[in-house]
Amino acid sequence: MGYLHYFCIEQNITVMKYRNLGTTNEQLSAIGLGCMGMSFAYGPTDEKESIATLEKALDLGVNFWDTADMYGNGANEELISKVLVPNRDKVFIATKFGFRFKDGAAGPSGTANTYFDGSPAWIKIAVENSLRRLRIDTIDLYYAHRVDPNVPIEDTVGAMAELVKEGKVRYLGLSEASPASIIKANAVHPIAALQSEYSLLTRDVEKEILETVRNLGISLVPYSPLARGLFSNTLNLDSLSADDFRRTLPRNQGEHAANNARLIAEFALLAQDKQCSPIQLALAWVLAQGNDIIPIPGTKKRKYLEENAGAIDVQLSDSDLNTIEDILQKYPNVGARYSEGAMALVNN
Ligand SMILES: NC(=O)c1ccc[n+]([C@@H]2O[C@H](COP(=O)([O-])OP(=O)(O)OC[C@H]3O[C@@H](n4cnc5c(N)ncnc54)[C@H](OP(=O)(O)O)[C@@H]3O)[C@@H](O)[C@H]2O)c1
Repeated sequence: MGYLHYFCIEQNITVMKYRNLGTTNEQLSAIGLGCMGMSFAYGPTDEKESIATLEKALDLGVNFWDTADMYGNGANEELISKVLVPNRDKVFIATKFGFRFKDGAAGPSGTANTYFDGSPAWIKIAVENSLRRLRIDTIDLYYAHRVDPNVPIEDTVGAMAELVKEGKVRYLGLSEASPASIIKANAVHPIAALQSEYSLLTRDVEKEILETVRNLGISLVPYSPLARGLFSNTLNLDSLSADDFRRTLPRNQGEHAANNARLIAEFALLAQDKQCSPIQLALAWVLAQGNDIIPIPGTKKRKYLEENAGAIDVQLSDSDLNTIEDILQKYPNVGARYSEGAMALVNN
């Protein structure tokens, strides 16, 4: 993994860049691929285009793919397996466990019939389910999707460490964990990555969390780095399908939505000056926060994947970074990133 890959975008030749996973020698594309939307959460899906997008990721050298057992109740892992299995040596696959239906299998978060389970007993079952659906022998990076407030983190990570010993998993990760949990977890077994929401609109990790992972040599994997598509400056919240998860987010309601639309419209003018798209500028900002940061923008479309990969070539000067801070300060009313119920499961 980690060879140079070349591709063309509007006559520009772009070479994907790679970043190390934590303190390992694993070379992951600095821009990964979030696969969730191919099966779940963001409106209509299209298997043919999703598969073409995964194949395009191989061409672009985007080798860091992200999924979870709960994305479409396993459907996302099954979809990915179709491209992953014949290309196993070209992809570093990350999946997650923990959200499940009360009556059994992995399920979506935030419904009355679902809960989070970080128990050792569930981990043993969940990993077998993910391996079966992905049709592989070993998961490269296995994350606890959240820290279960009812299970000591040492027990959860202890059970995950057993999977490493058994050869079912190579590296361990946490998602949305608190600094205290990260430290306790890392004392049980090295943690390679923390996956938490990080974008221009969600900067919670900048306080204690980033410092904690840096002290321990853990990579930060920002999810939703495009603020779930808002930074395209073309997302029409009113036209989202009725079951689109983004309809439930406080950030996308009323005064917050209006604030964010103004913020992003102004941000798009800076992108225009920089001769890139606002999505590329938003992603370049995340990349510029450190070489230990490996964002996983999500898409189910080839054209978006290509555009996102092109962000690797957007260079930000100190003046650009200051202008971005000024825009953010001008429009502070961005709104909460999750509902109260979902927020209760972060930073545990
Ligand atoms: N650990 C966790 O709790 C957690 C939570 C959420 C997500 N994740 C992971 O993180 C990944 C990324 O996050 P995300 O998908 O929530 O949010 P995101 O990457 O911020 O945004 C995804 C949205 O942006 C749109 N988009 C992507 N590229 C675009 C482009 N160039 N132009 C216009 N629109 C574009 C996508 O559209 P299309 O869908 O039409 O392509 C999709 O609606 C997910 O796929 C998932 O693997 C993890």
